[in-house]
Amino acid sequence: MRIGIFGAGGMAEALGGQWSGHEVMVAARDRAKAERISARVGTWEETARASEVILLAVPAGAVTEVLASAGESLAGKVLIDCTNAVGPGAVLTVPGQAERIAAAAPDAHVVKAFNLCHVDVWRMTPPVFGGRPLAVPLCGSPEAVEVVSGLVRDIGCTPLNAGGLDRARLMEATMAFTVGLWFDGHDAQACFPPLAA
Ligand SMILES: NC(=O)c1ccc[n+]([C@@H]2O[C@H](COP(=O)([O-])OP(=O)(O)OC[C@H]3O[C@@H](n4cnc5c(N)ncnc54)[C@H](OP(=O)(O)O)[C@@H]3O)[C@@H](O)[C@H]2O)c1
Repeated sequence: MRIGIFGAGGMAEALGGQWSGHEVMVAARDRAKAERISARVGTWEETARASEVILLAVPAGAVTEVLASAGESLAGKVLIDCTNAVGPGAVLTVPGQAERIAAAAPDAHVVKAFNLCHVDVWRMTPPVFGGRPLAVPLCGSPEAVEVVSGLVRDIGCTPLNAGGLDRARLMEATMAFTVGLWFDGHDAQACFPPLAA
């Protein structure tokens, strides 16, 4: 698959490394950082045009500007939103971040994914805890979720179709809630019983 990555920070490097079996192209404002992830580097627009799927891995505050730079080349592409609009104290600063991204790139197919776990988890090969592969919830259209499901399996995780993009704000709130618990030293996973129970 032809994967574009917007950004060359931690999430871009972690997931870009996991997807090295694909054709990965990176767009970032720092070309040297982009080249550390892939030899294929382009502008936002070139990278979007060359890709089937694009991982948006820039800070929430930079999203609008970056998407505007990619422009119409985003049309028809699957756009993975891993961004977390979160401020000090694990508080959401933008409710409905994925829907805001969909409004800024109306012809792309936005899927919320990979926002729940710290970047170090996405570097694990594979992310397995207590013998159980990490489950990755995905919110978006069924067709776009299917595409991203393959990329989730590629990193050894289990994709979960969590519904349409209107449910992405629940994932964003879940991130803020669980991060708040983790920062306070609590085990967020312990709050939930196994399915059988
Ligand atoms: N880190 C985590 O544990 C984690 C986990 C899940 C989701 N996320 C989300 O994933 C996204 C990326 O996080 P990250 O940890 O990879 O961040 P990061 O390491 O700080 O990297 C951010 C990238 O975005 C670029 N950038 C920053 N401002 C920009 C602007 N105004 N225009 C264009 N590019 C800009 C940076 O460029 P420069 O290098 O030039 O500054 C860098 O390439 C964020 O939205 C974050 O909320 C992070």
